[in-house]
Amino acid sequence: MATIVLGIGCAHAPQLHTPVGEWELHAQRDTKDAEPFWYKGERVKYAELLAQRGDQNLGEQMDVKICNERIAKSHEAIDRLSEIFADAQPDITIIFGNDQGEMFLDDIRPVFSIMGGEKFENMPRTDEQAKRLPPNIHIADEGHLPDDETKVFPGHPVLARYLVESAMNNDFDITYSHRQYRADPAHAHTSGMPHAYGFIYKQIFRNNPVPHVPIDINTFFPPNQPDASRCYAFGRMIGKAVRAWDNDARVAVIASGGLSHPVVDEDFDRDIIHAMESGDLKYLLSYREGYYQSGSSEIKSWIAMHGALQDSYLKCHLIDYQPLYRTPAGTGSSAAFMVWQL
Ligand SMILES: [Fe+2]
Repeated sequence: MATIVLGIGCAHAPQLHTPVGEWELHAQRDTKDAEPFWYKGERVKYAELLAQRGDQNLGEQMDVKICNERIAKSHEAIDRLSEIFADAQPDITIIFGNDQGEMFLDDIRPVFSIMGGEKFENMPRTDEQAKRLPPNIHIADEGHLPDDETKVFPGHPVLARYLVESAMNNDFDITYSHRQYRADPAHAHTSGMPHAYGFIYKQIFRNNPVPHVPIDINTFFPPNQPDASRCYAFGRMIGKAVRAWDNDARVAVIASGGLSHPVVDEDFDRDIIHAMESGDLKYLLSYREGYYQSGSSEIKSWIAMHGALQDSYLKCHLIDYQPLYRTPAGTGSSAAFMVWQL
């Protein structure tokens, strides 16, 4: 039977690869954005957010020295996760991630998608694609896209297909692709994989050809987002299926993304981290869906991973957590890095 030998949770925020002096590019969008943010389960406009959080003195945490220290610590944590991954030498890795309008455009958004390609390509953007992006996103491309040429990563069609069959036998209707899905290049921002996967390829795999199965969850886009309980049940089913697989493979499971953003909510993040450490699932799932929206919806990938790791006897610990504030209203990205090991 296959064994799950490692779990990793890793933030993938563009802010991690944006020089602190350029965070203003993100901040400008935050303060001008017509769309309200999600904060503590409610929709709030920037001015309301600023009024609500004014007494937290978050502007003090925008000090360049503090921000640079937090970025340096985040990169140390990513290096540590990458070393742990290399030391574990898993045969196959499952990545729970979320497309953010990069691979699936408005024509289709699968709820749960298991990808069974022989290979997956991570590609630099074309100049045309780069032009379609806001500058604060393009500037962070080095975090998840190849520097010059396309990088190819092997998939694992046998495991992917087995997981699809297991899911279909366990009340999950799954979208399956037997090759890399690519959005219409005339409209897409990339022709490669979404940043949730590209970040792991570059920062954790370090561009090594690791056999893997990407599993995409539509955490982000209404109206067909699975709720947190459903993501947990889905992950649990995936974990059980892996452990029942008639194969002696050693499998790693990675969650890409999170925690709270683009409004940093340290209380919420600490609760999530504590619930993961203590295995307190009731608590983990007790938050209203309003907490799991926008960037913070990526916490659902962590919840799915947490489900997959149940009964695997792996122990969880936090490598680091850094709140990266870019406005006095507390917009920014939180960056959490956790590991589950024997
Ligand atoms: Fe993301």
